Amino acid sequence: MTPSDVKATLSFSDGSPSMELPIYKGTIGPDVIDIRKLYGQTGKFTYDPGFLSTASCNSTITYIDGDKGELLYRGYPIEQLAVNCDYLETCYLLLNGELPNATQKSEFQARVTNHTMVNEQMQFFLRGFRRDAHPMAVMTGLVGALSAFYHDSTDINNPEHREIAAIRLIAKMPTLVAMAYKYTVGQPYIYPKNDLSYSGNFLRMMFATPCEEYKVSPVIERALDRIFILHADHEQNASTSTVRLCGSSGTNPFAAIAAGVACLWGPAHGGANEACLNMLEDIQKMGGVAKVGEFMNQVKDKNSGVRLMGFGHRVYKNYDPRAKLMQETCKEVLMELGLENDPLFKLAMALEKIALEDDYFVARKLYPNVDFYSGIVQRAIGIPVPLFTAIFALARTVGWIAQLNEMIADPEYKIGRPRQLFVGAANRDVKPLAQR
Ligand code: ACO
Repeated sequence: MTPSDVKATLSFSDGSPSMELPIYKGTIGPDVIDIRKLYGQTGKFTYDPGFLSTASCNSTITYIDGDKGELLYRGYPIEQLAVNCDYLETCYLLLNGELPNATQKSEFQARVTNHTMVNEQMQFFLRGFRRDAHPMAVMTGLVGALSAFYHDSTDINNPEHREIAAIRLIAKMPTLVAMAYKYTVGQPYIYPKNDLSYSGNFLRMMFATPCEEYKVSPVIERALDRIFILHADHEQNASTSTVRLCGSSGTNPFAAIAAGVACLWGPAHGGANEACLNMLEDIQKMGGVAKVGEFMNQVKDKNSGVRLMGFGHRVYKNYDPRAKLMQETCKEVLMELGLENDPLFKLAMALEKIALEDDYFVARKLYPNVDFYSGIVQRAIGIPVPLFTAIFALARTVGWIAQLNEMIADPEYKIGRPRQLFVGAANRDVKPLAQR
């Protein structure tokens, strides 16, 4: 953090002494006003529900310029990473700050690959769930349970524990997601096969059966890898902030990541791609492209409670750069699978076209986000809709870990403890039951 020459002065209309607040500059992006001494000096808190104006930490990992529609991982534009790197290189970058060279890449890949199996007991733990449980309910449980299986990597204050927990989480997430899926459909679990790529291995664990050879399609493998890259990190969003806050208490890394999984589940966050696909299917049932106008009227009617899922973003007030890349992947996958005329894709294109021209969306700067297309891609690959958010969690795990490790290594790190403006009843006496 570089101190700025400019200082902010906070003054009060009641004559209380004013206060000078330091300002810090980042490498790029808005400056921040340091209010850490505010309460000590004025007895007042700041009020910022939803953190609309609050930087909760300083970070070197991911940068988003929402107005420009720019996303950088460690300074590299997402468009370049998506085209030139694979997911494991991206993981290495997020964790270590630099892209790996060829030796570092193969060592990292070998390390992750070496940890893809999960403790055999985990299948008995999984068996305790209902077969029709939502995969995110199962994933929240499974990831949390890792702390019960890997005792030797649960000390968040030990850098070696954090490092091995990171590798384990990245390596085991695909295995756990695939196990959760196989459990739902009643098929045997498929063990990892370590001569496959990260995404190829995941595809095989998902879709192979012991009865026949499974051949990984390179187009689908690449598409999935791209989904993973695009979802790998997104600075201080709700689930990442949850992981940081949870980890700030000193809990173990598996527990902190499980908290992130739980947060991601919500439809305003990671659950949006599932909600988006359900929305497309509902419109399709109503009559498809012909009913788009009617649906849009509902979206614009504030009393309907209907939102155009996959549109809008807290930070992007421009086209989400990930949505463009995902639209490209979507076309490639549909072509590969002979689904170019897929009605849901056509419907999505029609919705997008109308929304991009409609005053309601233009005035509010509502553009498609990554979820708008990722659901169509995943559905085409054969991933069931309820599993979409689990795939997102798989991909985001590396971002959560990188952010968690950055926080723990930060000398300024403290347990997170927001304050409140209390507006409830002030001190009052409890009346005996007969008098209430
Ligand atoms: N459809 C219709 N109207 C919308 C939408 C939408 N998808 N998103 C925002 N608006 C409207 C709001 O009604 C509001 O209108 P108003 O100013 O007239 O009251 C205005 O746009 C601003 O909306 P907010 O909810 O205040 O914006 P916020 O930044 O809080 O919300 C959010 C962002 C939650 C993502 C929102 O756009 C949304 O619900 N989108 C749909 C869900 C979605 O796709 N989520 C994915 C997020 S990306 C991710 O997690 C990977």
